[in-house]
Amino acid sequence: MIQASGGAHAAQQAERAPERAGGTAMVRVAAVGDLHYTRSSQGLLERALGPEVIARADVLVLCGDLTDYGLPEEARALAKDLAGVKLPIIAVLGNHDHESGQAEAVVEILRDAGGVTVLDGESCEVRGVGFAGAKGFGGGFGRRVLEPWGEPAIKRFVQDALDEALKLERALSRLRTRSRVAILHYAPIKGTVEGESLEIYPFLGSSRLEEPINRFRASLVFHGHCHHGSAEGRTAAGVPVYNVALPVLRRTLADGAPPVRLVELPADDGDRGPSSAARS
Ligand SMILES: [Fe+2]
Ligand SMILES: [Fe+2]
Repeated sequence: MIQASGGAHAAQQAERAPERAGGTAMVRVAAVGDLHYTRSSQGLLERALGPEVIARADVLVLCGDLTDYGLPEEARALAKDLAGVKLPIIAVLGNHDHESGQAEAVVEILRDAGGVTVLDGESCEVRGVGFAGAKGFGGGFGRRVLEPWGEPAIKRFVQDALDEALKLERALSRLRTRSRVAILHYAPIKGTVEGESLEIYPFLGSSRLEEPINRFRASLVFHGHCHHGSAEGRTAAGVPVYNVALPVLRRTLADGAPPVRLVELPADDGDRGPSSAARS
């Protein structure tokens, strides 16, 4: 498990007394994905979230496609904005962050200049809530999920999907907190892909990601990537899944509401039973 840093202001924020609901300490998680920062996006985050969201949240989760082309200068623009966010920040990368083959540099800049904890098969805890993160990958859903059969290219594609599912499984298996949040870029269920063109469903997510989420009884899932998808769904085991791609939030939230999903989770270290306290 790695330590969520959250920049210069995280320690100060972590000292703030948590809210209490029915005697249980609650942690408020704000999530958004697909910011697609370019060199000239400076200020986008602040315009999107606004100071009231930052003031209400305890943790900020970013669900990939942090940059538009995966360029270091795009990461620097985002890191500059994130450096001013007085919260622990946890992120996964998206496919766009890999576009220029400089994903490692993007991670380094976000970590060092933006105070971001980037998860790639790892987990971390913030104020008693566990977070497990991986990018995920495509392959399709249910009985139609792509199988490793035929050409080597198909087998490599499926192997990448399996590797991402294993990363998520490993990260979830390390959490002992009562509340466990899975962070992905790709969708783990078809439900939050609905609204996209049918032809591209297999490139938007994979059911292979759903299995560890159900097995380790995650409290909820955040993902991005599906700009035209649905905002909410559930896994077969009933785990809530939130598509927090920025265009989806802009489209589905009430007029004037900041495009961010705010969820409150209990922070105690109780048993590993499924949590029903998540709400938005
Ligand atoms: Fe995106
Ligand atoms: Fe994406």
